[in-house]
Parts: sequence; C-alpha cells; structure tokens
Amino acid sequence: MNQKLKRIKQIFVALILIATVEGFSSCEKDSYPPPAVDPNQTWHFQADIQLIFINSKCVTCHNGVTQFPDLRSGKSYASLSSGGYITPPGETSILYHQITTNSAHIPRTTDAQKLEIRYWINQGAHNN
Ligand code: HEC
Repeated sequence: MNQKLKRIKQIFVALILIATVEGFSSCEKDSYPPPAVDPNQTWHFQADIQLIFINSKCVTCHNGVTQFPDLRSGKSYASLSSGGYITPPGETSILYHQITTNSAHIPRTTDAQKLEIRYWINQGAHNN
C-alpha cells in the first residue's frame, strides 16, 4: 500500500515538472517574437514611414498647430529634415530616440515599426 502511494506521488511530481517546463517554454515563445524587419530591405518614406505616422495617430498631436515636428502627409518630410530629427545614424536620431525612450511615445509604435524607422534613417533618410 505504502509503495503504491509512493509511486503515485512520484508520478504526480513528474507531471507537475512537465507542466512547469511546458509552461515556461510556451511563455518564451509568446513573449519574444523575433521582429520580422529586414535591415537590408529598402524602406520607403511615403509607403512605410508616413503610413506609421498616420496609423499610429501621431498626427492627432503633430498636426502643424501644436507639436513640432509636423507629421501630416505632405508636410512631414520637410519638417523632420529641416528640424534635424532624422540625421543618420538611426540609432541616435531624435525621431528614433523619441519613439524608443519617451514613455508617452513608446507604446504608439510596434517594435517592428520602430525598426523600420531606424533602418530607413540608416539608409539615408531619403524622401523616397
Ligand atoms: C498625445 C499627443 C502626441 C502624440 C499622439 C504623439 N506625440 Fe510626439 N510629442 C508630443 C509632445 C507633447 C511632445 C513634446 C514634449 C515631449 O517631449 O514629451 C512630443 C515630441 C515629439 C518629438 C520630439 C520633438 C522635439 O523637438 O524634440 C518627436 C520626434 C515626436 N514627438 C514624434 C512622434 C511620433 C513619431 C509619434 C507617433 C508614433 C508621436 N510623436 C505621437 C505629443 C504627442
């Protein structure tokens, strides 16, 4: 009888261990999706970057009236370049710095969008 109880206990402990390991590994898969952004792909201002300013609703505040830079379509490139916001390298540019370090700005863009902006600046920040 005692032996049987011991065996059941062993099986129980083994099951808990398996569940714990499974739990950890599935968590890992969920919390670290590799950002699918290719630094060697050509990133375009109009098709990629301006779209982020629109979709992330940057333009609700950066509308040419209140906050500088003006991020509205047709205005943003001139505003960003004349204001010195997109001077390469991307890593140290004011625009990238702002969206990655200012707590009010961080949640507005995804990790992938942040990287697109960084790579576009590294590629020369052209009005392409
Ligand atoms: C809710 C309003 C609001 C939204 C939305 C917003 N910003 Fe801002 N932004 C501000 C304010 C206010 C400042 C200036 C004060 C500060 O640094 O917090 C600022 C500052 C900045 C600056 C630095 C300006 C300078 O002169 O140093 C950049 C660059 C910027 N924002 C980019 C963005 C981008 C890109 C987005 C969209 C992903 C965005 N902002 C969305 C309010 C906003």
